[in-house]
Amino acid sequence: MKVGIPKEIKTNEYRVALVPSGAGTLVAAGHVVLIETGAGLGSGFTDAQYEAMGAYIVPSAEEVWNLADLIVKVKEPVKSEWPLIRPGQVVFTYFHFASNVALTRAHISSGAVCIAYETVSLPNHELPLLTPMSEVAGRIAVQEGAKYLGKLYGGRGVLLGGVPGVPPGKVVVLGGGTVGVHAAKMAAGLGAQVIILDISLERLRYLSDVMPANVQMVFSNRHNILEQIATADLIVGAVLIPGALAPKLVNKEDLKVMRTGTVLVDVAIDQGGCFATSHATTHEQPTYIVDGVVHYAVANMPGGLPMTSTLALTNATLPYVLQLANLGYQKALKSSPALMQGLNIIHGIVTHQKVAEAFGFAYHPAEACLD
Ligand SMILES: NC(=O)c1ccc[n+]([C@@H]2O[C@H](COP(=O)([O-])OP(=O)(O)OC[C@H]3O[C@@H](n4cnc5c(N)ncnc54)[C@H](O)[C@@H]3O)[C@@H](O)[C@H]2O)c1
Repeated sequence: MKVGIPKEIKTNEYRVALVPSGAGTLVAAGHVVLIETGAGLGSGFTDAQYEAMGAYIVPSAEEVWNLADLIVKVKEPVKSEWPLIRPGQVVFTYFHFASNVALTRAHISSGAVCIAYETVSLPNHELPLLTPMSEVAGRIAVQEGAKYLGKLYGGRGVLLGGVPGVPPGKVVVLGGGTVGVHAAKMAAGLGAQVIILDISLERLRYLSDVMPANVQMVFSNRHNILEQIATADLIVGAVLIPGALAPKLVNKEDLKVMRTGTVLVDVAIDQGGCFATSHATTHEQPTYIVDGVVHYAVANMPGGLPMTSTLALTNATLPYVLQLANLGYQKALKSSPALMQGLNIIHGIVTHQKVAEAFGFAYHPAEACLD
């Protein structure tokens, strides 16, 4: 099979979907690997390193899209890429369809087979291709949040760890999944007082067993959220309902109960965000202020730290890329229930219930759409 890797062109996106060793694995399995020239540079990989593994360097994105049966990317195709998608082509990447109707419509019209990293799920509901980037994003959330607490950026001017004689800052984490845990660990490591809110009691019980003493678990409901955000310095939005738009847990009115200079980091922005006042920002212009509250809502946070993120992502994606290339998408989907969960759109039909519900499109179960 011809596997194509276009260069990522979303603003400040430096990750690449395949590293040279991964290209080597695909070539050894008998596949043709087409890398757009310069695709790996942002993550530290030269064209020559891919060529040494047997991959072909292709001069333009148009040629990669035109030649490949399977396109592997990191972020959803941006508008200028939509006309390049061919009917029947398999596109394997993060899509986050539920947060973007135009993107969803474009992929319905394309006739492509769209398999979304973020909804590939294991029988225990783990999301193996979201997890590595959630680990990275959770950690970045605290690193960035600590920075934007600086007075220069409109923050409260609080040092999260405090110093002897001065109390630490308070970090409130909404959602105790992968992003939440990694944010909490980083914040706890800095010495902050950390609160995690989640709706799963089972999850809260587990976290209270494994988290350090400066992390407390609180059940997530409207009353508790309002109580906690009123005294927070940094609030991390880390909730997820897989495939669906994120629930809005903090509305515009609630900003009034917060202290001026509180920082919100809405990691869930790729699913629409869990603060009503969030809108997606970029690494170039990551923050804006509403009612004195600093908002950070970069939709591709790991893209800014590509050396770590590309390796973490491709460690997890390569086995699925190999399955798709070795078996073809029909057999690969049928033989892997995890991958089947990733099928969002095929030949113009929406096969993910939450994506269909988000925009009122007709839903067809994925299994029924394969030959
Ligand atoms: N911005 C970025 O660059 C970036 C990077 C990685 C992940 N993400 C996003 O971060 C979000 C979280 O991802 P994750 O991997 O941690 O998901 P996860 O499924 O591991 O965790 C989500 C948690 O949210 C909890 N939750 C759901 N509703 C809640 C509510 N009302 N109150 C409190 N908790 C609630 C769930 O019980 C679960 O524990 C997703 O939207 C994901 O796409 C964004």
